[in-house]
Amino acid sequence: MQKKYIDEKLESNLTSIVNCDDFKEWYDIVSPILLSEEFQKRKLMKHHDESVWDHCVEVSFKAFRYSKKFKVNSRNCAIAGLMHDFYPHAWQYSKSLEKLDKSYSYYFLPNTKKPKIFKQHGFIHAREARDNFKKFYGDLSNSHIENAILRHMFPLNIKPPTCKEGWIITLADKIVSIKNLPNIKEWPKYIGIHNSKKY
Ligand SMILES: [Fe+2]
Ligand SMILES: [Fe+2]
Repeated sequence: MQKKYIDEKLESNLTSIVNCDDFKEWYDIVSPILLSEEFQKRKLMKHHDESVWDHCVEVSFKAFRYSKKFKVNSRNCAIAGLMHDFYPHAWQYSKSLEKLDKSYSYYFLPNTKKPKIFKQHGFIHAREARDNFKKFYGDLSNSHIENAILRHMFPLNIKPPTCKEGWIITLADKIVSIKNLPNIKEWPKYIGIHNSKKY
């Protein structure tokens, strides 16, 4: 793959996929988001043992490849995959959050009360991600991308996706996430439902 498609800052985060056949086509679709300042901040937000950036890039690229296989809209799958966890507040603490505005650390601020169970990350972040996507990249949006982001936590969020892109994102997210699956006792914490303020 030609080097010219890789921004210096991004290179270390894309090494695992940059030599894949579909990389350039995927990159041309998602680069307006990848290179934007707001999405760059996801490198500083933790998602299990990696960053939100790493997780979303992996889901997006996998969904893009599935879209080719299953003849589903590739642009929608690439963008929805990248945006499916684009929630505004970090749900896991990490030292790197101190480099960002305090709003990103909302759950860890001294005055923030512990949310009730159905207001916790696992239940609300899909809607937050959909709204945040529309806020920052609304010009790239359409109803299928929004549905795929909103319903990606199925069955936890009960309502299933209503478009093929939604099923692709739900599947890609589960497959990518399974590698981090912990001991069963840790599952509530893993899916963002936890009784303590420290997520
Ligand atoms: Fe999610
Ligand atoms: Fe995810």
